[in-house]
Amino acid sequence: MPNPPIDPEAFRAFEHEGWERIPQRYHNAFASLTSQMTTPLLDAVGVTTGVQLLDVATGPGYAAAAATKRGAEVVGVDFAPAMVAEARRRYPTVDFREGDAEDLPFPEASFDAVTMNFGLLHLGRPEQALTEAHRVLRPGGRLGFTVWARPEEAIGFQMVLRAVESYGKVDVQLPQGPHFFRFSDPQECHRSVLGAGLVSPTVKTIPLIWRLHSPDALFENMFEGTVRTAGLLRAQSADAIRAIRKALRQAAMPYQKGDGVELPMPAVLVSARKP
Ligand SMILES: C[S@@+](CC[C@H](N)C(=O)[O-])C[C@H]1O[C@@H](n2cnc3c(N)ncnc32)[C@H](O)[C@@H]1O
Repeated sequence: MPNPPIDPEAFRAFEHEGWERIPQRYHNAFASLTSQMTTPLLDAVGVTTGVQLLDVATGPGYAAAAATKRGAEVVGVDFAPAMVAEARRRYPTVDFREGDAEDLPFPEASFDAVTMNFGLLHLGRPEQALTEAHRVLRPGGRLGFTVWARPEEAIGFQMVLRAVESYGKVDVQLPQGPHFFRFSDPQECHRSVLGAGLVSPTVKTIPLIWRLHSPDALFENMFEGTVRTAGLLRAQSADAIRAIRKALRQAAMPYQKGDGVELPMPAVLVSARKP
């Protein structure tokens, strides 16, 4: 069956409404995972003392805060006011502002580096966000972004997709965005950053581990702490949700370690330079 057409506006509204609701729950579910990427991401764009950095789709602000600790001059932007409030609450000394990745509220050539940690895969118009990153970078400045590796590798996602395929419906009515794993493909990353006018792209896979307090936490974190994946789960019938929850618990069992669970969740790290 062909994929339904992408509707960037409806998708943006869906994402916006979702992130507005869950800043705290996102933090509880994902902080320990996505913040593992801040060191490699900041290294990839050369963040050191005095570097002017824009962290786009900053969420609760992990990368922005880590860059501030390195002595960088940092602005974090996010389109969800509740996320911006959460980031300001967590890191009161960092400059967080509302702003859209696809229409950045900054003049051209205002930053030495732009980062986007797990943001690009949430955008209806990711090419536009790459073009915007290019616009606000100074010549010689660097863009770095991360996305999840393919579900075969980032197995928490594979477990969810398999459980929905087995016990629910995959083709639910949700505002359609670009494919969630589009940028897990290194060739697609190369094409897209070159298309935005950036040069010398590098693409690496970084192994991350998602430590969960119990096998049930995989379902809970996905159901409570995400927008798109939660949308897929919430669109299922009550019976299907029960079966999916049980299937996820069972799928996570083999990954039990100590008093918790450790799931491999590698990420793809892309960096490129503005000529
Ligand atoms: C998965 S979270 C990533 C948060 C954070 N960067 C991290 O590393 O955990 C995605 C973030 O992207 C933001 N976002 C989604 N679409 C956006 C857009 N068009 N412009 C700016 N922020 C956006 C959401 O509000 C959310 O905070």
